[in-house]
Amino acid sequence: MHVALYERIWMWAAAVLVVIFLGTIFVTAGVHAIEPPGHLETIDPTAIHEHPEFGTPAIRTLSDGSVVVPVVSGMFAFSPDPIEVPANTRVTFRLTSEDVIHGFQIVGTNANAMAIPGYVTQFTMTFARPGEYTIVCNEYCGLMHHSMVGKLIVK
Ligand code: CUA
Repeated sequence: MHVALYERIWMWAAAVLVVIFLGTIFVTAGVHAIEPPGHLETIDPTAIHEHPEFGTPAIRTLSDGSVVVPVVSGMFAFSPDPIEVPANTRVTFRLTSEDVIHGFQIVGTNANAMAIPGYVTQFTMTFARPGEYTIVCNEYCGLMHHSMVGKLIVK
């Protein structure tokens, strides 16, 4: 079968691009050990209120100066709310849900994770810019999903 020269060039170019794109994904996933932010540890969602960390979620500062923020998501609020953290400090969010799957997105940043009942989702980030940020739930979780917002204050 005869394939025109230009046709062949474009076919090879497309094939090379596919290899480059897939290679980029596998190399970065391998080199940086990328993993989803969730499913690191499990928790009994029916006993959250007796849980030592999530029963009364309190922001705590570790000896290295970084801050840990446990957050319980439930219909239709985040707890604690507002969340107050210092700027230019490593902040580790630890999310879980007491009922259904919720989202946890800090608007204007790249913080975006799911709060899944039975699991603790964890991610760490640093806020360079002090101010007030809105936290929204971006997983449909029920009738009042649209009103599930929280506030993050970076000082
Ligand atoms: Cu919680 Cu939508």
